[in-house]
Amino acid sequence: MTDLPVTPALEEIPDGEPDRIEATVDLTLRRLLARYDGRAIRRGVHPKDHGCVTATFTVADPLPETLRVGVFTTPGQVFDAFIRFSNADVDPEKADSAVEDDGVAHGSRGMAVKVLGVTGEPLVTSNLTTKYGPLNQDFLMVNQPVFAFANVEDYEALSQILLDHADDPSGFFARLGDPDPAISGRARVTGAIVKRIAAAAFQPAPASPLDNSYFGAAPFLFGEGRAMRFRARPVAPDADAAADFADPGYLRAGLRRRLSAAAGQDIVFEFQVQVRDAASLSTALPDLIENACNDWPDIPFETVARIAIPPQDADPDTPERRALCENLIFSPWNGLAAHRPLGGINRLRRLVYEISARIRKPSGTCPFSAPTPTG
Ligand code: HEM
Repeated sequence: MTDLPVTPALEEIPDGEPDRIEATVDLTLRRLLARYDGRAIRRGVHPKDHGCVTATFTVADPLPETLRVGVFTTPGQVFDAFIRFSNADVDPEKADSAVEDDGVAHGSRGMAVKVLGVTGEPLVTSNLTTKYGPLNQDFLMVNQPVFAFANVEDYEALSQILLDHADDPSGFFARLGDPDPAISGRARVTGAIVKRIAAAAFQPAPASPLDNSYFGAAPFLFGEGRAMRFRARPVAPDADAAADFADPGYLRAGLRRRLSAAAGQDIVFEFQVQVRDAASLSTALPDLIENACNDWPDIPFETVARIAIPPQDADPDTPERRALCENLIFSPWNGLAAHRPLGGINRLRRLVYEISARIRKPSGTCPFSAPTPTG
């Protein structure tokens, strides 16, 4: 398998992880083929989008010297960006929030931001040049601060269960009874996150994808010797609008409604980071870097950029825009070496995203290409 670059001072790779990654990639591929069974294959997760929008990504100005890293090197620099909003659920036909006997199932949502035409040392090379240049920085986020599975070992176990039980993850919780307290303890934390009883794991259901905060949910490099976690937080969410659960596509409708109700104004998210240096991590790598279920509540978020979604020139619902949205390819490994993904879950993501993108683009298109958002 491909050698993964690592950042030794900031990562601690468990024994056997490369084999587990290889096995998980294989399980994921087999599940994808079985799920679509001859039909056109969609994204491995997050296949249902609510719409894609053009945006700008503006580095904060002023910005303290210590935060001028990677994409954020030049205060005030404005990048064009493209954003795809999605449901995490593997089933693209599922209602955004299913109304069930015991309440409304409000799943995990995604916000994937592609910052176009960045400069610096790339993590992966691409021979494709768009009008923005060859290099883009992707920031993939979900609307919860932590990921539900701690490490590659747990994700491999989950992947085997999803393959054996047609995407039903419930068998994962047999690990609650595992004699190894490390395994049963992690399963308890996963349960608390997916059932939303973990503190602050989930926000209330938003009426539109523009009314939630989204989190990177894993650590990334912040220049040499430091690590970051990031989030995007709406500056003026619509707190009064109620989610219309009866509409299976209410998040797409909500996005459209919010964009037209903005009356010519931009809809704005602050892009914020928490930063730790190697010294503060040195004794805590297993907890703070290698366990994606942990966040960093002790570190304040600082604003490093502003994402502005202007009134859209193109209706996000046209067949052309929907096709563009479907064909976009995001990966946490698409971007600058200064923002290298860290930790086991992120090391796993590199190959999984690559095969998911490759298999849904059989033409051999570069998996990290960025179709130019021309409207
Ligand atoms: C920190 C944890 C994670 C976050 C924040 C995250 C977020 C996202 C988001 C927002 C998307 C949608 C991208 C788009 O709009 O195209 C996505 C896609 C995807 N994610 Fe994740 N994800 C995480 C962990 C994982 C893990 C652990 C796996 C599996 C090992 C995974 C597998 C995938 C796959 C296969 C896709 C579709 C890729 C494609 O076909 O282009 N994700 N993820």
